[in-house]
Amino acid sequence: MKNVVLVTGASGYLGGRLCHALLSQGYCVRAFVRKTSDLSSLPPPTDGGANDGALHLAYGDVMDYPSLLEAFSGCHVVFHAAALVEPWLPDPSRFSSVNVGGLKNVLKAYKETKTIEKIIYTSSFFALGFTDGHVGDEIQMHSAKFFCTEYEKSKAIADKIALEAAAEGVPIVPVYPGVIYGPGKVTTGNIVAHMLVERFNGRLPGYVGQEKGFSFCHVDDVVQGHMAAMTKGRLGERYLLTGENASFKDVFDMAAMITQTAKPRFRIPLFLIEAYGWICVLFSRITGKLPLISPPMVHVLRHQWAYTCEKAKTELDYNPRNLREGLAEMLPWLKSLGLIRY
Ligand SMILES: NC(=O)c1ccc[n+]([C@@H]2O[C@H](COP(=O)([O-])OP(=O)(O)OC[C@H]3O[C@@H](n4cnc5c(N)ncnc54)[C@H](OP(=O)(O)O)[C@@H]3O)[C@@H](O)[C@H]2O)c1
Repeated sequence: MKNVVLVTGASGYLGGRLCHALLSQGYCVRAFVRKTSDLSSLPPPTDGGANDGALHLAYGDVMDYPSLLEAFSGCHVVFHAAALVEPWLPDPSRFSSVNVGGLKNVLKAYKETKTIEKIIYTSSFFALGFTDGHVGDEIQMHSAKFFCTEYEKSKAIADKIALEAAAEGVPIVPVYPGVIYGPGKVTTGNIVAHMLVERFNGRLPGYVGQEKGFSFCHVDDVVQGHMAAMTKGRLGERYLLTGENASFKDVFDMAAMITQTAKPRFRIPLFLIEAYGWICVLFSRITGKLPLISPPMVHVLRHQWAYTCEKAKTELDYNPRNLREGLAEMLPWLKSLGLIRY
């Protein structure tokens, strides 16, 4: 019998790619999705028994404990990737309910399910805080003095809970991706895709952000890192699944070189982006459509978020591709979808 692996957030950008990769390795995948989830990024589920090496759906919500408990039944491994991944929401308390409350429910359901051997929890580089003037590693703890976004705050609080659970003996391995990019569902989480779409459609004429670094990691490398955390990750150990430290200016410059198009000629000042963000937020309050740019995002852009993934390279054989290589694959993919032209 193959191991039964449950993936929360299976309908999302990362979760969808993870489900595909697990299926290709022969795992029986139980995709934990909501009734409202768009399942277009998942392969069709099968109707067979629970352990026939294919995809099965388990409906629920991470805030609905009984649905989670039921879905966990008979599972051996849980990937907890579900989260609210937005730079801004009109009701900020939702970040805590889903991102902190969801993890608490996962830990509670683990304790009641006797079959689970390992939980891989998808945290985020945001949970460790910014790294102005240095390159961060797994030792870094969030100062918790200032949070650029409510999302960052929720991930930092959830990280603490995951580490406390590990100290109590829960077999959990927290992994911390950087800015994930590459092909896959274009959700808010796929921020690089959104930026490139805006740039190549003429709606983003200049560079965004300062020279400060972000750690960019290709979605399929992050997926491999998750799978390696399942097979090789030491319990309670943190693993940064980051990649090349670069700026959004580098992303646009590389994109221009790859597509042989013109580079932006100027940098958009952050105060202008912030002002635009306030307008977007106002517009969002009226229309209900979530904004792509918001003032908290500008706070993020004011800092450096550079990390090393040496530990994952050594222990998990994590092998992130460089940004140029990843973008050279991503741009034709965006073009093939008709989202950009060049
Ligand atoms: N994207 C990045 O750059 C990045 C970087 C670092 C870490 N991460 C982490 O990676 C994970 C996946 O992110 P992503 O980019 O794939 O985000 P995403 O595309 O927005 O996917 C989020 C997933 O979570 C699910 N979800 C949200 N609220 C839920 C709830 N109450 N109950 C059950 N499921 C719920 C969503 O379901 P629906 O489809 O129904 O909405 C979706 O499947 C998150 O934990 C995120 O914090 C992401």
